Amino acid sequence: MGHTFYVTTPIYYVNDVPHIGHAYSTVVADVLARFHRQNGDTVFFLTGTDEHGQKVAKAAKAKQLEPQAHVDQMVVPYKDLWHRYAISNDHFIRTTEASHQAVVQKIFKRLLDQGDIYKGLYEGWYCVHEETFWPESQLKDKKCPDCGREVDWVKEESYYFKTSKYKKRLLEHIHSNPEFIRPKVRENEVVSLLKDDLQDVAVSRMTLNWGIPIPFDPDHVVYVWFDALINYLSGVGYLQDEKKFLRFWPPVHIIGKDILKFHAIIWPSMLMALDVELPKTIVATGFWTLGKEKISKSRGKVVDPHELADDLGVDAVRYFLMREVPLGQDGEFTYEALVRRTNHDLANDFGNLIHRTLPMINRFLDGRIPAAPAKPNLTKELAAKATGAISEYKESMANLDTKSALENIWTMLAAANKFVDQSEPWNLKKEDREEELKEVLWGLAEVIRIAALLTAPFMPTTSELIFEQLGLDTKPADQPFKDFLKWGKLTEQPEIKLSAPLFPRVD
Ligand code: MSP
Repeated sequence: MGHTFYVTTPIYYVNDVPHIGHAYSTVVADVLARFHRQNGDTVFFLTGTDEHGQKVAKAAKAKQLEPQAHVDQMVVPYKDLWHRYAISNDHFIRTTEASHQAVVQKIFKRLLDQGDIYKGLYEGWYCVHEETFWPESQLKDKKCPDCGREVDWVKEESYYFKTSKYKKRLLEHIHSNPEFIRPKVRENEVVSLLKDDLQDVAVSRMTLNWGIPIPFDPDHVVYVWFDALINYLSGVGYLQDEKKFLRFWPPVHIIGKDILKFHAIIWPSMLMALDVELPKTIVATGFWTLGKEKISKSRGKVVDPHELADDLGVDAVRYFLMREVPLGQDGEFTYEALVRRTNHDLANDFGNLIHRTLPMINRFLDGRIPAAPAKPNLTKELAAKATGAISEYKESMANLDTKSALENIWTMLAAANKFVDQSEPWNLKKEDREEELKEVLWGLAEVIRIAALLTAPFMPTTSELIFEQLGLDTKPADQPFKDFLKWGKLTEQPEIKLSAPLFPRVD
């Protein structure tokens, strides 16, 4: 049996429609999911929506809707956007589903029975926007230290989860598993939070009814974060389809750095209490900013992923998001940078290679890609470049360095563009050097096939179109890396298909 790979995105609050920041986390997870499938792994890719809590209830109220009616409406734009962005999730979980709610209730009861949850009194502050409890000492100028908004005073009976009990074990786990929290700066952040005075966390609310009820104590609902984190278990069969759960667990979580504390402290503590193996890796991505401020609807800073797709095409946007900044760092979103990447990297570097090579095959070789050369001569250096790029790409992807992986591909494309100029196929044609001409054009087509395979996780739709243009009757997804990500696998093809530019230039 091959490997399995379980990857998740944060589940998004349905207080508002998705913006480019949400699309980003989802695209990152999709790229990893597609890469692993291409690598022959059996993948389970989970995304979904976080539908309970005060923030969502407030949004419903503002629209004068019942919360359930509101979330039923608001889940649609998320599903639509993922469809448009070619997101290949295997399942979409909503926290209002009965099956998820049942799992949360069972977990709550079990932790209570075993003494990891106990009843107490919460007296302190609460930020609705961040759905976070804050002790007075952590406020900044009396405001939420994370988002700077006003906080509410809360005094209510509350269940607590014993995070403090797991602190030592968690620190040990972090120290002995350098893959656990990525990038390293985030690991350091978590370690210093843990070394501070770590308090138990409140896991129920009384002054709110839009949440999962606690059956044996009807005045309380489950705190939205306790509910939401459990989606990673309930979404993969935990307590429902044990076989599936055991097959895929543990996950790789893609999250934003804003929700690190929940994922790297509270969540692992919950899992330890449940005797469930901890996540393989928690990848904390950075923020997209506008004018150096985090893109966020409530700050009036948004970039609409649909508009971007209208203007540039989905794959160009996916490419930009993955190429512009290394995973984990912040990036300033500018239209100029997006247009520059589209014109320079996609239209010039990649597009030109395709749109120079294929018409030559069409004119000089009757539209047929010739067989691989029996005794390679002119393409030897190109083959070495491609082989080097492939191995660097694999290494980059293994390190979750998706930006470098793209750069590795572009190094190969640059070499191929140079090769066109140096080998001058038009002169080979003029001088009737048939075998050399065939070798050169075959070699260029082979680079294009390999580039399409390597970019397939990033630009799935375009890479399929490239395969079509090469006249291949398979899709990139049907060429697993193990067998096809090698120089020389391109066989004779009877008929290439020219078409409009794959990457139109934009102004
Ligand atoms: N519902 C919680 C997550 C629960 S996971 C068990 C939540 N939802 S959210 O909709 O507010 O944000 C989810 C994620 O969206 C962030 O963690 C982050 O990954 C992504 N982003 C939101 N704004 C972003 C940017 N401006 N830039 C990059 N990513 C951002 O938190």
